[in-house]
Amino acid sequence: MSGAVRGNGLPYKVAPMRWEDVPAVMAIEHRSFTLPWSDYTYRHEILENHHSHYSVVWRTDISASKRSNWWTRLRRKNGPGKLVGYGGFWLILDEAHISTIASHPDWRGRGIGEFLLVEMIEQGISLGASMITLEVRVSNTVAKNLYDKYGFVIVGRRPRYYRDNNEDADLMTVEHVNSPDYRERLKSFRAALDEQLRQNPLCNGRKTTA
Ligand SMILES: CC(C)(COP(=O)(O)OP(=O)(O)OC[C@H]1O[C@@H](n2cnc3c(N)ncnc32)[C@H](O)[C@@H]1OP(=O)(O)O)[C@@H](O)C(=O)NCCC(=O)NCCS
Repeated sequence: MSGAVRGNGLPYKVAPMRWEDVPAVMAIEHRSFTLPWSDYTYRHEILENHHSHYSVVWRTDISASKRSNWWTRLRRKNGPGKLVGYGGFWLILDEAHISTIASHPDWRGRGIGEFLLVEMIEQGISLGASMITLEVRVSNTVAKNLYDKYGFVIVGRRPRYYRDNNEDADLMTVEHVNSPDYRERLKSFRAALDEQLRQNPLCNGRKTTA
């Protein structure tokens, strides 16, 4: 994925995932999924798969304000703050398929997952997507609430999709994301989310996740 760091006055910024980000991504991955992807899967996704679009979210204000030049240089290489979430999708024709999304376990309930989802939907639309799909564990109520908020509906079930416990996956889809109605809805959710993210303190999320 190409492009610069995106952000609009928030203490969070979204940027394309880089190979240098993968160790921090893997740390979240192992705490978020019972079937974690390997770092080589991420390597393939960001460096070799031309259908892939992967992003990370940085919390940008976690640092002392005055640092020496070498520290500034190191931070620039390592990223503009703390990596608190990531997500990715594959775009094939007009369908964006969200392949992963996770926020840091210590940072959940603060809008980061929603921020990632909105960024991916907006990016998908700008790249020509008209529908977005994903699979989610039937038991993953938190994620399903998030998708439901953005108009995803369950359109099918994949039996025994997850190898660790043979849990089924729900296939969820939202169509016509490029329609004026959906874009308007996205815009108003985005405005409320930006406000929440702007006010969000460094500690104490809105809620804890299960
Ligand atoms: C799913 C996940 C990305 C959500 O991220 P998050 O940063 O905690 O979520 P947000 O704070 O942005 O909340 C967004 C929405 O998610 C839902 N949600 C979040 N926390 C919730 C909770 N504890 N209980 C119920 N719903 C919850 C709500 O719909 C919420 O919107 P609202 O604030 O208007 O109610 C995060 O829980 C995660 O990384 N889980 C592990 C990995 C995973 O399951 N990924 C999904 C794979 S399909």
